Amino acid sequence: MCLNGTNTANITERRSGDSSVAKRQRPSRRSLMKISFKLNNKPRETEIPGAKRFLDVLREDFGLLGTKEGCGEGECGACTIIVDGKAINSCLMLACQAEGKDILTIEGLDECGELSAIQHNFVKNGAIQCGYCTPGMIMSAKALLLECPNPTESQIRVALSGNICRCSGYSQIVAAVKDTAKGGES
Ligand code: FES
Ligand code: FES
Repeated sequence: MCLNGTNTANITERRSGDSSVAKRQRPSRRSLMKISFKLNNKPRETEIPGAKRFLDVLREDFGLLGTKEGCGEGECGACTIIVDGKAINSCLMLACQAEGKDILTIEGLDECGELSAIQHNFVKNGAIQCGYCTPGMIMSAKALLLECPNPTESQIRVALSGNICRCSGYSQIVAAVKDTAKGGES
C-alpha cells in the first residue's frame, strides 16, 4: 500500500529501536554468532558479535563506508539502509537481526559502475552539498520508490522526514526524488 500512514509507520519503526542495546560493546568469544544474510545482492556469512551494531558491521567488517553515522540514536537518518524493502536506521539494528535478511546499502545501487537513476538525479538537481546525509537520503527515497513508484510530494516529504540535512537542501532533494519517480526507475 502506498499511503502516508504506511510511511509514517516505517519512520516510527525506524525510531523505535532501543539505543541502549546498540551502544558499543567489547565482544567476548562467547558472544560471536554465525550470521547469514544477503548484502547488496550477494550471499554473505560471517561470525560476529550478535550485539554489535549493524552500522559498525557494515563499516568495520565489510568496509562499506558509504553508510554514515550521525547521531547514533535513530534521529538523523544518516545511517539508513534498506532491509527487506524497508528503510532502517542501521545504528539501531543489531548484527543478529541481519540473519536471513536481504540488505541493500548505498554501495549496492550502482549499475555496473554507473550511477543509478536516483543517484544521477541527486547530482543533476544539486541535492548534494557536503554530502554527509546523502547516502541515507537516497536509501530512504529508494525505499519509498520501491513501495510507491509514483509518490506525491507530501509522501516524499513524509518518507524523508527521518533524515536530517544540515545543509538544508530539502527542496533539491525532493526535486531529485520527483524526477526519479517521473523517470520510472530508481
Ligand atoms: S546515525 Fe543512525 S539515525 Fe543518526
Ligand atoms: S548535504 Fe550536507 S548534510 Fe545534507
